[in-house]
Amino acid sequence: MLPTTLTALLVLLLDIFLDRGRCQRPQSSRFEKSHQFELRHQHAVSPDARVVFSDVPSTVNLVYGNESSYSIDTQYMTSYRPSSFSAYNDARIRSMRHAQSAILPWYETEILGPNVEKRETLLELAKMTNNAYVTPDDSQWYELDENWSNPYPFGWEPDADGFRGHVFATSDNSTIILSIKGTSAAVWGSAGPTAKKDKLNDNLLFSCCCARIDWSWTTVCGCYRGGWKCHQDCLEQALVEDSLFYPLGTNLYNNLTYMYPASDIWIIGHSLGGAVASLLGVTFGVPAIAFESPGERLAARRLHLPSPPSTHHVTHIYHTADPIAMGTCNGILSSCALGGFAMETKCHLGKSIVYDTVSNLSWSVDIRKHGIVSVIEEILEKTWQPSENVGREVPLAAAEEDCVECYSWEFGDFPP
Ligand SMILES: *[C@@H]1O[C@H](CO)[C@@H](O)[C@H](O)[C@H]1NC(C)=O
Ligand SMILES: *[C@@H]1O[C@H](CO)[C@@H](O)[C@H](O)[C@H]1NC(C)=O
Ligand SMILES: *[C@@H]1O[C@H](CO)[C@@H](O)[C@H](O)[C@H]1NC(C)=O
Ligand SMILES: *[C@@H]1O[C@H](CO)[C@@H](O)[C@H](O)[C@H]1NC(C)=O
Ligand SMILES: *[C@@H]1O[C@H](CO)[C@@H](O)[C@H](O)[C@H]1NC(C)=O
Repeated sequence: MLPTTLTALLVLLLDIFLDRGRCQRPQSSRFEKSHQFELRHQHAVSPDARVVFSDVPSTVNLVYGNESSYSIDTQYMTSYRPSSFSAYNDARIRSMRHAQSAILPWYETEILGPNVEKRETLLELAKMTNNAYVTPDDSQWYELDENWSNPYPFGWEPDADGFRGHVFATSDNSTIILSIKGTSAAVWGSAGPTAKKDKLNDNLLFSCCCARIDWSWTTVCGCYRGGWKCHQDCLEQALVEDSLFYPLGTNLYNNLTYMYPASDIWIIGHSLGGAVASLLGVTFGVPAIAFESPGERLAARRLHLPSPPSTHHVTHIYHTADPIAMGTCNGILSSCALGGFAMETKCHLGKSIVYDTVSNLSWSVDIRKHGIVSVIEEILEKTWQPSENVGREVPLAAAEEDCVECYSWEFGDFPP
């Protein structure tokens, strides 16, 4: 294994060789004009776990506020990309199967992303993550293959996998926004057909040890070893075998780049969808905005995602009264445990814009404040006084550097 500094040096050298045309942009021109997005497609997953799309006619609006177009301010940001997705995935598989640390070169690039210092931008993006999930009656679902120009009808499957959302595009297709839905658990709203799958995945990725809360719980994987001990390899295997979410996400992204080969792609999502958006943002080096996501740093490690020199092109937006984003939705009597969830992680990748609604609005911690509609109507649609007081529109984005989670657990090679 190469020491980090040496790896960084190699990356730097490669960067000088491969990226000499890059010019230093003056700070003042980092902010660029706004882009207009309109809804183009819905995406979903078929019962045999294939990504499918349907085109949304311009007369149908499935998104919060019924707006026909969404205006988003833009800004340049730095991101890191692997040389290719297959290089990235090979490194991931080597790490997962053979415990080999991956020496993956990363290329620094300047990319256009949403301007997350603007309240209106966050508001519009939040609206775009709030899908109504209405199925247009004549929805034509299709899969991408070399005959993509001939969409074939694909009936809506009530038991389809819990991975859905929308695709927005600018009129010239220069920028595409992929929006990924959140969890549809009974505990915080209507239990849609996707609730069961969502729950399994949430419990695998966002609990410390297979959602073991206490003796009365049936765990979602068999890695619990008594006391506060958990079998690490077992845990990683369970994620690889049971969690379709990350591979489905990378398939979805790759399908989208097939459809829009020349476009910039941004990824946004709420809740679990936000966590997936972040993981895909890290994988492909593209801007990702996540609202009220549970801590996904541990999930990235358990999935063996090679980690770039910086993940600051990922932005989290959440508030302190949301027990899911704060990782306080645990304990046998919590609303999450009562709904069959163990949401115990709290550390996020990238930078976080945290609204302290507990201190500044005197909110109490409440699962109902997790919903995106609450975030839209009670936070983002209003001016945020604590920020305005210091001449800003939104709280300052900061990395969660000293974050610690699952500290009462011991992970290792314990006998069954
Ligand atoms: C689209 O994703 C599916 C997986 O759902 C994959 O099998 C297929 O090869 C992808 N198609 C393209 C064109 O990327
Ligand atoms: C939503 O938009 C459609 C078409 O633009 C319109 O027919 C419909 O009345 C609108 N609904 C609401 C609630 O504004
Ligand atoms: C694509 O279309 C051609 C001609 O209609 C057909 O022969 C071929 O099997 C199709 N390929 C796939 C993958 O469906
Ligand atoms: C944008 O992409 C759509 C496919 O979703 C295509 O029908 C349209 O012609 C494209 N527009 C431009 C300007 O390339
Ligand atoms: C908001 O809360 C912070 C603590 O999180 C506090 O320092 C600040 O004074 C509060 N501002 C307002 C306007 O209440």
